[in-house]
Order: sequence, then C-alpha cells, then structure tokens
Amino acid sequence: MTGPDPDLSFRMNHDDRARSAFIVGLKKKANLGIAATLESRFNDVIAPALQQKLGRSLNDTDRDDRKTVVNALEHEQLYRVWAHMTYLSQGQKWELVDQILQNEMPRLQAAADHYFNLPSKLCTLTLNPDLKVPANIAKTEIHRQPGGFCAETHGSDITAGAKYNFGATMGPSAGRGRTGFKRGRSAGDFVAETIKARYPDLKPLRILEVGCGTGRNTPSYKRQFPEAEVIAIDCAPGLLRWACAFAESQGAGVHFMQMDATALDFADGSFDLVVSHILGHEMTTRGLPQMIAESWRVLKPGGVMFHADVAIQPGHINLFDQALNQWQVRYNGEPFWMGWADADVPNLMREIGIPDAAAFAEYMSSSERGGEWLCYGARKPKST
Ligand SMILES: C[S@@+](CC[C@H](N)C(=O)[O-])C[C@H]1O[C@@H](n2cnc3c(N)ncnc32)[C@H](O)[C@@H]1O
Repeated sequence: MTGPDPDLSFRMNHDDRARSAFIVGLKKKANLGIAATLESRFNDVIAPALQQKLGRSLNDTDRDDRKTVVNALEHEQLYRVWAHMTYLSQGQKWELVDQILQNEMPRLQAAADHYFNLPSKLCTLTLNPDLKVPANIAKTEIHRQPGGFCAETHGSDITAGAKYNFGATMGPSAGRGRTGFKRGRSAGDFVAETIKARYPDLKPLRILEVGCGTGRNTPSYKRQFPEAEVIAIDCAPGLLRWACAFAESQGAGVHFMQMDATALDFADGSFDLVVSHILGHEMTTRGLPQMIAESWRVLKPGGVMFHADVAIQPGHINLFDQALNQWQVRYNGEPFWMGWADADVPNLMREIGIPDAAAFAEYMSSSERGGEWLCYGARKPKST
C-alpha cells in the first residue's frame, strides 16, 4: 500500500461551503436570534397575560402549563417564523447533504472498504441480519434524515453513517441548549475523563458503549483506557459500518456489534464500564427503562454505568424552551424528545432495583461552548 491512508472526512467545494454556511446561518438566526426576541416577548407580554388569566404563576414543571404556553405561542407571528425557518433549514440541510454525497459516496465507500479489507485489522464488525430493529429506529426518520438510520442498498453500505455525520456538521451548534465540543474532542473524552475523576480506583478491562451510532465517541475509550477491550453496539447497520471504518482509521481497536440495547446478548456481569451518549432521548418510554436495566444487568459488581444525555428536563429548562422542544417532536424528527424530558430518571433506576445510594443523576457541564448534560447511572455494589 502506498500513499496516505484513505480519508473519511467530508470535502466540499466552494459552492457547497457557501450553501452550508447559509444553512448554518439560517439555523442560528432562527434558534438564537428569532427565538431570543420571541423569548423576550414571552417574558414581557405573553407570560404575564397568561398568568393574569390563570390567576397564578406559570409553573415550569407543570405539563398543563406547557400546553397553555404552546397554544399561546402558536398564535404568535414570530413563533411561526421561527418554526418555518427551523423546518426549512433542516430540509435544506438534508438536500445539500444528499447532493454532496452523490459525488462523495464513491470516494468515502472506497475509503471505508479499504479499512474493512485491511489484512491485519484492529476492529471487528458483527452484524446480525436477524435482529428485529426496534421501531423507534427502523421506522422513524430521526432528525428527518432521509431514509432514517437503517437505510442500505448493499452489504457494505456506509451511506446512513455518512449522512448522519455530515448532517451533524451542519446542525447542533446552531441549536439551543445542545452540546458542542471543540474540534478533536468528543463527548466520549468528556465522559471518560469524568469517570476517571469520579472513580479513580476503577480500572476497566471490558467497556461497553450502547447506542454508539457512527462511533464518534468510541475511539475516546480506547485512548483513555488503552488496556481495555472496547465493545460498541447499535441497532443500525449503516451507522455501525461507518463507526468501524472510522475507529480503524483512528487506530482504535473496537469490536462493533449490531444489537438491541433493550435486549443485550451479553451475560450478566460482563463489563466493568457501560456508557452511552445521547441515546436515551431516542428511546421510547418503554425502551428507556429496558436499556437502563440491561446496562445494569451486564455490569460486574464494582462496575460503573454512566449515561450522558441532553439536559432538557422541565424545571431545568423553562416553559418557553420546553414549548420550542415540543414543536421538534411533531415537526423536526425528534419524536422521543419530550418523552425523555419528562422521564423521571432517578425513579426509573429505583424501579429497576438500583439502590439509591449507588445511583446518581446530575447535570454536568462539559465547559465547552456551554455544553450541558444530564448524566445518570450507578456504581454496582461489590456484593449484591
Ligand atoms: C442520537 S444517536 C447517538 C449516537 C452516538 N452515541 C453519538 O453520540 O453520536 C442514538 C443512537 O442510538 C441508537 N439506538 C436507538 N435505540 C436503540 C436500541 N434499542 N438499540 C441499539 N441502538 C439504539 C440509534 O441507532 C442511534 O445510533
């Protein structure tokens, strides 16, 4: 083999970059500019009028009050402009991603195939064609990604993964209350460093990442815990293929497996550390406790379960932001966003049988671009 390793990064020509900058600008204008003006109007005019009508203060944790606020905002011209621009920019984003990938896919697929076919690979990929992929992923176009996470046209197709990652470069940083990291750092680095600081005695030899997606965070675990065997699962095959090629390109040996996080194929007590990043908010209200229970089941005594997700819980964010999030559920490919927001995570862990003394659910800041997370999990007692 001669020449540099094949490149899995996205290349845009001048026109693509200009369109991408326009879309990101539109998202910022909607989510930071217009939403901020609307929020001022909400605080100064709309909320006081509603409170006067109700004869009491609005309560950030009351779902009826959220409905009241949504109904009131729907009559506001500025809210409609925000909704329209947000919807439009998301559609434009996917149109641009699809157009660029029409040219880029042959190069990216060849790069991935190169990594899949290396004679001495560090990574393995085990797909399960018999897996019944949960409907929340199989039948939903999350983030309005065309075709969803499970679309594929051939046996080594990485298109779903390419779309997911490329789409992400034109999205989250333009939103409200999302998590952003500096170039070269991932949520995995943040979580792994937090775990090391909280549990200095934990020396994980087997790590499981659930819902790894395109594996944006997975190589961090190999870097942060070089002694450990890292296994990462997801139910979407095209995302896993991308994850595998990406980890190989990073020199991070990881075992990727297609599996359902709510019904793991691992024996009890298989792992020292189980992690996830932004998985819970894409699960149904039934799937979320099953995923937590499975993460707990496969944990060894003394092991740590640490999940990090979006910090959008009522009370933690105000009614105005909840109302905007409610819109995302119906119109912007985030069907489980409010189910996650309303989930009582500490209680879910209690109902699973996790002792209160072992569990945690805390807001944590990644200190980068205002990134905030709800981190939850537990350390399994050494003797149960
Ligand atoms: C928002 S993505 C996050 C991906 C990745 N952790 C990241 O931070 O980029 C959520 C991921 O969870 C996966 N997922 C959702 N439900 C799942 C399930 N029941 N079993 C396995 N994976 C699941 C989806 O396929 C998707 O890749």
